[in-house]
Amino acid sequence: MTRTLLLPVLLALAIIVSGCTSTTTTTTTTTMAAKETTTTTTTTAATTTTSAATTTTIGTTTTTQAVKEIQMTASQWKFEPNTITVNQGDTVRLQIKNIDVTHGFSLPAFGVNKQLDAGKTTTVEFVADKKGTFTFACSVFCGAGHSSMTGKMVVE
Ligand code: CUA
Repeated sequence: MTRTLLLPVLLALAIIVSGCTSTTTTTTTTTMAAKETTTTTTTTAATTTTSAATTTTIGTTTTTQAVKEIQMTASQWKFEPNTITVNQGDTVRLQIKNIDVTHGFSLPAFGVNKQLDAGKTTTVEFVADKKGTFTFACSVFCGAGHSSMTGKMVVE
């Protein structure tokens, strides 16, 4: 018990004896700086956690909101339907059945470009994150009418 009391007293004495005020100031500053650093790190960590939580919420919201699944057919030289309307924020899933030769489906506004193999159903998925009317088109040469094989994606 006496030792515990003696220690601070001895320390104080040592500081007074050394008479070096600047050393004391430096020590205080360092301690404060260290404290500040610790506080900042904690805040950053907290922010990161919050961001992660927000992302999770958005993900859940998107899933809950709507996965708009649309059945389409691709053939020489058309997409059916050739006008598709969705809502902004929808996850759009197109199931494109190709009933003849190889075609493609490109929707540049949403970074989509997929080959549609002959006789198969290809799934194309994207998030309609902006409003507008966007053109989609066949991206694989498929004969005389290839360039007219287009359609519209309307995001409201
Ligand atoms: Cu279909 Cu080109």
